[in-house]
Amino acid sequence: MKPSDDDQPQRHVEETKAFFDDLASGWSGRYAADPAMHKRSERFYNGLHPYLSVGSQVLDFGCGSGLVAHHLSTKGYLVTGIDLSPKMIGQARLSGDRANFFVYEGDGTLPFDDDVYDAVISSSVLEYVPNPKEILLEFRRVLKDEGVLLLTVPDMRNRFRKKESIKRSLMLFPPFYYVLKMSRWKEGLEYLKLSCNRFSIREWQTILDDTGFGMETVPDQQGPLVLITARAK
Ligand SMILES: C[S@@+](CC[C@H](N)C(=O)[O-])C[C@H]1O[C@@H](n2cnc3c(N)ncnc32)[C@H](O)[C@@H]1O
Repeated sequence: MKPSDDDQPQRHVEETKAFFDDLASGWSGRYAADPAMHKRSERFYNGLHPYLSVGSQVLDFGCGSGLVAHHLSTKGYLVTGIDLSPKMIGQARLSGDRANFFVYEGDGTLPFDDDVYDAVISSSVLEYVPNPKEILLEFRRVLKDEGVLLLTVPDMRNRFRKKESIKRSLMLFPPFYYVLKMSRWKEGLEYLKLSCNRFSIREWQTILDDTGFGMETVPDQQGPLVLITARAK
């Protein structure tokens, strides 16, 4: 499942962009329909507010249709959202003007100066990024010393993730893959293909250590997505 040859990461980024462009117009509606998604905004606010004060600068990487960014703006933070999908950014701009939104080129570099942000958040995004260490180094660069990083990533301890691993193995069997691709499972199949990073909490701890962060505590299991809090060292 992981990109291996030289042009595969770029192809992966292009496919991810097309996937989320297709989902963009309905993304905010998922927050209304799915209680777990509805809680995302509050989950990030609760994670940030012990560290930040009103007026803190927050970057939301992979902001999607901007609902978390807008929520954090209403709490008094100065929020910038950036996303690979131009259509997601279009939706984010439509839903309010408190936060600033930019399209991200997907080239592994952030269009921001060093030491600007008090916090970087990324809600359910690093699972899609071909080289997570590269972007974490960028997060570290744009964060101030002791800045906060909040990530949600797939929690491999969760039952749902264990079932997902079985589906991934079945996908490798071509007839099964093509039958599913024609069915209502199409979106799920694309998701499994593009959401390629699956690491244990210990592996995330090592990746964060290697990129200039320290994980605050080993988080408890909270559902299919775990919230990781780290500080810039
Ligand atoms: C599952 S959605 C989450 C959106 C939003 N963070 C939320 O919680 O509602 C993943 C988002 O990450 C963006 N994304 C995926 N790969 C990315 C990359 N390499 N760089 C930046 N954004 C990316 C997608 O365009 C999409 O908007």
